[in-house]
Amino acid sequence: MSTISIQKAVTVPWIKSLKGKERCTALTAYDYPTAVFLDEAGVEIILVGDSVGTVIYGEPNTLSVTMDDMLRHTRAVTRGAKRALVVTDLPFMSYQVSVEQAVSNAGRFIKEAHAQAVKLEGGGEMAPTVRAIVRAGIPVIGHIGLTPQSINVMGNYRMHGKSQAEREYLLESARALSEAGAFAIVLECVEESLAAEITKDVPVPTIGIGAGAVCDGEILVIHDLVGMTIGHVPKFAKPLAQLKESFVAAVHGYIARTKEVKQTAQIPVDGLTREADVAGKERFSKS
Ligand code: KIV
Repeated sequence: MSTISIQKAVTVPWIKSLKGKERCTALTAYDYPTAVFLDEAGVEIILVGDSVGTVIYGEPNTLSVTMDDMLRHTRAVTRGAKRALVVTDLPFMSYQVSVEQAVSNAGRFIKEAHAQAVKLEGGGEMAPTVRAIVRAGIPVIGHIGLTPQSINVMGNYRMHGKSQAEREYLLESARALSEAGAFAIVLECVEESLAAEITKDVPVPTIGIGAGAVCDGEILVIHDLVGMTIGHVPKFAKPLAQLKESFVAAVHGYIARTKEVKQTAQIPVDGLTREADVAGKERFSKS
């Protein structure tokens, strides 16, 4: 496998061209500083995930995330990303009601928040929606397997592709999404052998999360990668830093430093400066 290194802005055709040559990298970001750091570090795709609902807002799931939330976070990320491709998630109920609604909401992310592509959840049933958004000139990433926006239908977060029926549905879905024009497909918590089969079958890159090392690329929630997760850390995340510890240590240091220093106040009085400490002791000096 040859190694391609990126010099210029990442484009959709370039991501597609990686298939079979080099694994592609994607991470989430929800704010400006994170986007700047990821961009400078060289990640190829920055996803403004609707995981913003759980990761940033502390919600139990992604269902309450709104168009306004996503537009605001996406704009912060596109301000920070100069080179990476910025993809944003269409939030729950922004694309399920009608194809027209989906195209018009996808368009808002491009016009108002300067994203370069959108991602939406769902299998073959979403193919007409993907086709219409792509026809409007907006690149789309599909997302199958564990689709968190369907949590109330699925009942829990689990691996997908264990039964034969589920395997057939997911393989057919990947084919349908790719035929509809999706330029990549996220496989979330898909059984590794099925992820390998789908990756071999479809002409576009598969981007795995909890789907083994068989996909054409990987995506992770940035907080899971850098040790900033609150609560359960998914097994597949394998954090490469422990930023929560450094963060808390810095706050402890700040508290100690602030408490240790004797408080003083400088109050000018008739050409003299009065320095008073909290204990009420006063010293006067010429100002
Ligand atoms: O919202 C998100 O962060 C995602 C990724 C985990 C794939 O959809």
